[in-house]
Amino acid sequence: MPRSPAYALLCSLLCVFAYAAPAAVPLSPPASGSISAAQPSSTVPFIKEDPNEVLPPAAIMQPIRGSLGSNIIGPDNQPIDQQNPDLLAPPTTDQGTVGNAKWPFSLSHNRLQTGGWARQQNVAVLPMATAMAGVNMRLEAGAVRELHWHKTSEWAYVIKGHTQVTAINPDGQNFLATVGPGDLWYFPPGIPHSLQATNDSADGSEFLLVFDNGDFSEDSTFLLTDWLAHTPLSVLAKNFQVNQDALTKLPAQQLYIFPDAPPPSDAKAPANPLGQVSSPFTFAFSKVKATQYSGGTAKIVDTSSFKVSDTIAAAEVTVEPGAMRELHWHPTQDEWTFFLGGQGRVTLFASSGNSRTFNYQAGDVGYVPASFGHYVENIGNSTLHFLEIFNTDRFQDVSLSQWLALTPPELVKAHLQISDDTFNHFNKTKQVVVGPRSS
Ligand SMILES: *[C@@H]1O[C@H](CO)[C@@H](O)[C@H](O)[C@H]1NC(C)=O
Ligand SMILES: *[C@@H]1O[C@H](CO)[C@@H](O)[C@H](O)[C@H]1NC(C)=O
Ligand SMILES: *[C@@H]1O[C@H](CO)[C@@H](O)[C@H](O)[C@H]1NC(C)=O
Repeated sequence: MPRSPAYALLCSLLCVFAYAAPAAVPLSPPASGSISAAQPSSTVPFIKEDPNEVLPPAAIMQPIRGSLGSNIIGPDNQPIDQQNPDLLAPPTTDQGTVGNAKWPFSLSHNRLQTGGWARQQNVAVLPMATAMAGVNMRLEAGAVRELHWHKTSEWAYVIKGHTQVTAINPDGQNFLATVGPGDLWYFPPGIPHSLQATNDSADGSEFLLVFDNGDFSEDSTFLLTDWLAHTPLSVLAKNFQVNQDALTKLPAQQLYIFPDAPPPSDAKAPANPLGQVSSPFTFAFSKVKATQYSGGTAKIVDTSSFKVSDTIAAAEVTVEPGAMRELHWHPTQDEWTFFLGGQGRVTLFASSGNSRTFNYQAGDVGYVPASFGHYVENIGNSTLHFLEIFNTDRFQDVSLSQWLALTPPELVKAHLQISDDTFNHFNKTKQVVVGPRSS
């Protein structure tokens, strides 16, 4: 809304008054009855009218925004600039210090094995991400991520192909299931499990693992072969009640990932007098229907549908070009974000005037500490697809628009100097993913 010059002048006078008044007025409280009601007016300058849109794509991006900045004349890594226009030429609303909130798996060390690979993100590379860590893993058809366990829980989202998982719980009940793209598994801390790509698709599978501790390292899990290779042979023979000769082909070091024949597609857990685990370790999240919003879709998974997953909750979100996951925050939980497709822009508002904007592409990890205000804007030409993941049993967010719509209008208008018409655009229903502005 354009502001009249007279209004701007009034503001600047009031602002001067507001800043000057404390020095001019005695510190003792005024005599009772002498306080006049505060005038409904701004006490600080208005925001700048710069829309701070993302920079338009250019063959060579330059750190220039409006009249600010200048071109680069020294060495420069242009592909990285290209992917991070809001770091190169930040919106003028960015300010202060906010830690790094982006880690592309492309920058992770990759552990190559016969049959697959694994690359990880944890606090060593993204110090802000204390509550969760992630691993991107690939298994060729038949390849096995060997029988193992770890102190953290493990939540997974299947990206491509099918993966067969096995586990047992401490009561001796066993489990076997196969999951496909968009499906999940979850193993509570210490539960031994295996992962094996099936040949449902010739390429095997790839998936995202999330651990409920930012310190997690995929290189320090408890592996079957690692344990046995570091236990006296006589002890192993006694434990299994066999001759030592029967165990001389045990691997001398861990296998971690190794090739194997694909499992049969109708595989079942071995017969067990104690039965199968009562709450499955897998969840067909791909079958859950997403809710349609004006700018995209969202669906949520937490213990209300996936009972065992009591330390990880998630939302899977799509945002159409020009649309945006609305301004919101998560009251108590850090968000670990994974971008599955498209191009996004996120500004983290860290309080105290601090905010910083990041850009994300498919394969990037993002992070938003608990309570930090943020949005996720699709700045590309294809659907933006991402996962919001939380170290908790219940998904929760607070919508800025809903909060304001459900607060007395006069109170909101006194803060924001907006018209009734503008206030009426705030929606009492969470919008979740808002479409491009219609007018
Ligand atoms: C998948 O593997 C099974 C078991 O090894 C085999 O019988 C089947 O022919 C394979 N299918 C494909 C499509 O390769
Ligand atoms: C999106 O497509 C338009 C029209 O083809 C093009 O001008 C623009 O540069 C594209 N934007 C991105 C981010 O690729
Ligand atoms: C609020 O959102 C609902 C859908 O969630 C929509 O039907 C309605 O028109 C919106 N109201 C306003 C005032 O934008």
